[in-house]
Amino acid sequence: MTAADLGKDPEQVAAMFTEVAKGYDRTNTVLSGGNATLWRIATVKALDPQPGERILDIAAGTGTSSVAIAKSGAEVVALDFSAGMVEEGRKRHPELTFVEGDAEALPFPPQSFDAVTISFGLRNVNNPQLAIGEMYRVLKPGGRLVICEFSHPDRAVVKGSYKAYLKYVMPAIAKVTSSNPEAYTYLMDSIREWPTQDVLAQWLRAAGFTRVAYRNLTGGIVALHRARAPESKKVRGSVAERRARPASPSTQANQTVTGSHR
Ligand SMILES: C[S@@+](CC[C@H](N)C(=O)[O-])C[C@H]1O[C@@H](n2cnc3c(N)ncnc32)[C@H](O)[C@@H]1O
Repeated sequence: MTAADLGKDPEQVAAMFTEVAKGYDRTNTVLSGGNATLWRIATVKALDPQPGERILDIAAGTGTSSVAIAKSGAEVVALDFSAGMVEEGRKRHPELTFVEGDAEALPFPPQSFDAVTISFGLRNVNNPQLAIGEMYRVLKPGGRLVICEFSHPDRAVVKGSYKAYLKYVMPAIAKVTSSNPEAYTYLMDSIREWPTQDVLAQWLRAAGFTRVAYRNLTGGIVALHRARAPESKKVRGSVAERRARPASPSTQANQTVTGSHR
């Protein structure tokens, strides 16, 4: 059985998802107590896909998130680096375009998508800031980004029950419903270590995104971040210039900070 650790070695993460691919969506639905559907609806609403648009769904897994977007009439490209997830996705959704690829090195030319989204994927990426930079690169000027990810509850009451849920309830359910319950220990640890809503927003601004905002879903168990690739040539130019400059030690420290968890 493969279960990745918080070093998030890409090969281990991909192998882990390949092992859970067949039962992934069922386990997800049970573990989220049905909330997964609501989170997906909120994500698609924030993305606001339009017929004819080209949209990239990164870390798409078996394509459950992509199908919901494709219903709008947009052309959706579902990308994932786990061969097993992609294989399962192609079987379930032959109507979608699946691409096996890495979020840290997207196999697409610059400015090729109207919108980019990632659901419950960024936390698993080895270098999330690199992946955010790639999202910026492939978005057209003015393009939309929506990130749906587990986050940190903001109210004590939600925080307390969620901690207990992660520690006791989730492992027990995963034992019964998943083919690889160890993978869910990783899930719990990776949620705990994930940066706060504000730190993720700061990463997006540092990558050059504008109009960065987030909203909490289910009391902050999940956060929905939205941002835009700047339209103005001048702003894009200064982002490119800033990126080309070698980072100063203080900037580097800022960019790798994971923030204090609430
Ligand atoms: C929890 S699943 C989410 C799947 C889907 N987006 C959903 O909402 O159901 C996370 C996915 O991220 C993928 N993943 C992790 N790191 C990745 C990377 N660097 N590049 C592409 N996919 C990655 C995994 O293979 C896995 O399928």
